[in-house]
Amino acid sequence: MKPIQVGILGIGTVGSGVFNVLQRNQEEITRRAGRGIEVTMVSRRNVAEAQALVGDKAHVVADARAIIANPEIDIVVELIGGYTLAKELVLEAIAAGKHVVTANKALLAVHGTEIFAAAHAKGVMVAFEAAVAGGIPIIKSLREGLTANSIQWVAGIINGTTNFILSEMRDKGLDFAVVLKEAQRLGYAEADPTFDIEGVDAAHKLTLMSAIAFGIPVQFDKAYIEGITQLGAQDIKYAEQLGYRIKLLGITKRTAAGVELRVHPSLVPSKRLIANVEGAMNAVVVQGDAVGTTLYYGKGAGSEPTASAVIADLVDITRLHTADPAHRVPYLAFQHHSMSDLPVLPMGDVVTSYYLRLRVADQAGVLATVTGLLASADISIDAVLQREADEIGGEGATQTDVIILTHDCTESRMNAALAQMQALPTVLAPITRIRKEELA
Ligand code: HSE
Repeated sequence: MKPIQVGILGIGTVGSGVFNVLQRNQEEITRRAGRGIEVTMVSRRNVAEAQALVGDKAHVVADARAIIANPEIDIVVELIGGYTLAKELVLEAIAAGKHVVTANKALLAVHGTEIFAAAHAKGVMVAFEAAVAGGIPIIKSLREGLTANSIQWVAGIINGTTNFILSEMRDKGLDFAVVLKEAQRLGYAEADPTFDIEGVDAAHKLTLMSAIAFGIPVQFDKAYIEGITQLGAQDIKYAEQLGYRIKLLGITKRTAAGVELRVHPSLVPSKRLIANVEGAMNAVVVQGDAVGTTLYYGKGAGSEPTASAVIADLVDITRLHTADPAHRVPYLAFQHHSMSDLPVLPMGDVVTSYYLRLRVADQAGVLATVTGLLASADISIDAVLQREADEIGGEGATQTDVIILTHDCTESRMNAALAQMQALPTVLAPITRIRKEELA
């Protein structure tokens, strides 16, 4: 049978990985797919650069639309990134009857509903394994491997840049800004790292996992997002002393009232496997009612790890594209007409426990006043750690840090209690609040 023809829009690091792995493992991939898979066209504005990546083995064009217009192309791989051009090209490819593979988490998290509807109407597939956690097959695991389960929650380290920064902060006791500069110098963080460090990239990926886990539409605009820019080295150290690591987690959880969808720094017990995921690695924990807890770990970025995910989608499409569209695996795991309208909860309704650090005057009654406020808000304390004033400010210091771990309460209740504590004259600096997840 004629090999399936693939066109790559925007060949670069990932695209050349796809090209190379397909070439290298051609024989095995063909045996698995039942048919050859060939990249026959690639696009890049700078044609000479693209030519250097693919030699004479694929036709190189500057205009991505030339690939979409070619009737020989069966599958379009979108690796351009961003929202505008990528969205236009994906919709044009769908309209032209092409199946689409994309690594573009931002595009699908924000415009997924429109894109999946267009693909459904046209009877083509949109596959996006590479959009979440790079080489880890988490989309397929959630959508297919765990399909027997009622999924209860998903928690992941799904941004390698921030995990690298947090690992360095912990190892070297350095503050965020110092480590970010070093990460940029080493090429671990991009020149504009905003999406990574502000938690936006993780929220894009979490939005996709949440939709697949719970059968809800993609709703990036409802995600609560907090990055790591405010984290201080001292909080990482105190957390460590209390038996926790601080990780930027994406958490989505099903509750009776709705779905939690949130990205923020979290204290995780040091003994959990996910707490020990270091450097730029990614990991996702999924809790299903039948299977219990499962953990997926691997490289979340890079040329061949991401290519591994793109090619898995190419093989899936090659196997399934002749199947009746109604009997293919649904894009978001649940049948198109059986999506749930379970609401995404506002952050105020989220229930979690907390780490609080208060810089206070070192004088009688301060701790009692603070704990009294928590008690009157019906927030139960789990542990308290008070540093000696000397450790904080040197000999004769009059300030100290009080660290409090609480039991579960709603975010809105905690916000009200924090406002009262912050107003105390003996609380001398903005209170640090980090959410805590036991992930038991
Ligand atoms: N910038 C992402 C990360 C990789 O740092 O994990 C691509 O999503």
